[in-house]
Amino acid sequence: MEFNDVRLSYGALQDEIDGAIRQILAGGRYILGPSVQTFEDEFASYCRAADGIAVGSGTDAISIALRAIDVMPQDEVLVPAVSAAATAMAVALLGAKPIFVDVSADDFNMDPALAVGRRTSRTKAVVPVHLYGMPARLKEISESGVPVIEDAAQAHGSEANWGRCGSFGVAAAFSFYPTKNLGTYGDGGMIVTSDSEVVHRSRLLRNYGQHENYSSESLGYNSRLDELHAAILRIKLRSLDDWNRRRRRIAVRYREAFADLPLATQAESGESNYHLFVVATPERDKLRAHLASLDIPALVHYPIPLHRQKAFSEFTPARCPNADMLCSRVLSLPIHAFLSEVDVERVIDGVRDFFRRGKMGS
Ligand SMILES: Cc1ncc(COP(=O)(O)O)c(C=O)c1O
Repeated sequence: MEFNDVRLSYGALQDEIDGAIRQILAGGRYILGPSVQTFEDEFASYCRAADGIAVGSGTDAISIALRAIDVMPQDEVLVPAVSAAATAMAVALLGAKPIFVDVSADDFNMDPALAVGRRTSRTKAVVPVHLYGMPARLKEISESGVPVIEDAAQAHGSEANWGRCGSFGVAAAFSFYPTKNLGTYGDGGMIVTSDSEVVHRSRLLRNYGQHENYSSESLGYNSRLDELHAAILRIKLRSLDDWNRRRRRIAVRYREAFADLPLATQAESGESNYHLFVVATPERDKLRAHLASLDIPALVHYPIPLHRQKAFSEFTPARCPNADMLCSRVLSLPIHAFLSEVDVERVIDGVRDFFRRGKMGS
């Protein structure tokens, strides 16, 4: 069993994808062409937002969205203490200061009350992450009045009581990294937004600050999704809801099977797309070793909270005890749209076997 085999989605759609690649290659338009434009419209509409601006990665999508709402060097930006490094990296590389907010031990996402407490007069934005695909509590977070840029890199198709992930903030950042629920075979990302000024500025920022070729209005990046990836993503988008449904069925099965075990799982603050299914236990390393002995791969997302990463040492200290606790306990079990029933049962048996045999103390 593999933790996630990204070749399987290609296998399922191979004829369509191969055909689209051939068409792009023969067409001669490789950058900022019709496939990108159409995919921007289709994905923005999927997220129930007005516009999409396709960029080179999820990290760039966060940075460009922050720049587009005028976050400047030395400004403070609130980020959760548990996430991929990219969330805080995108802030720091702008010259702004990531301010680490502890997460809730219930849903593992940014704690809204603590976010309000970390706000100062220099706070220009908050970047909540829908961690593992579970919607962050954006309504409560937005009560602070600070503009919200959603880090939706893991949350394609997740639903909350405030709408679909990507539809709430001033803007949202998505990643199309290969392992994401909607991923391509390379890097890619998108900003989705219903704010026309953010659209205008993001389009400039991703392309050397220019609307017209060879006429730059402002400084900008080279960060563009290319036509090949847009064409692939258009095809895969049509399967996203089916793939998410399959992941959700596996998650229901895991939750039922583990209900009587001493394992914490993310409280359901909405309908996750189950990018990851994560359990938490003080016996994490032993459980992981036990699963490995049964040839069941399990990964740790993430072993070090952001406020303890060396890269961000200049921005600390921050007290984030829940993040510390979770990073020592979380374990991601295999979950993806092509995981077989047999493998789901093997994972369940492996986990249950660990607790039944009392391997925790051994
Ligand atoms: C929560 C989160 N934010 C941001 C990113 C960055 O996306 P990318 O790898 O496309 O730059 C990722 C991807 O790993 C992520 O999981």
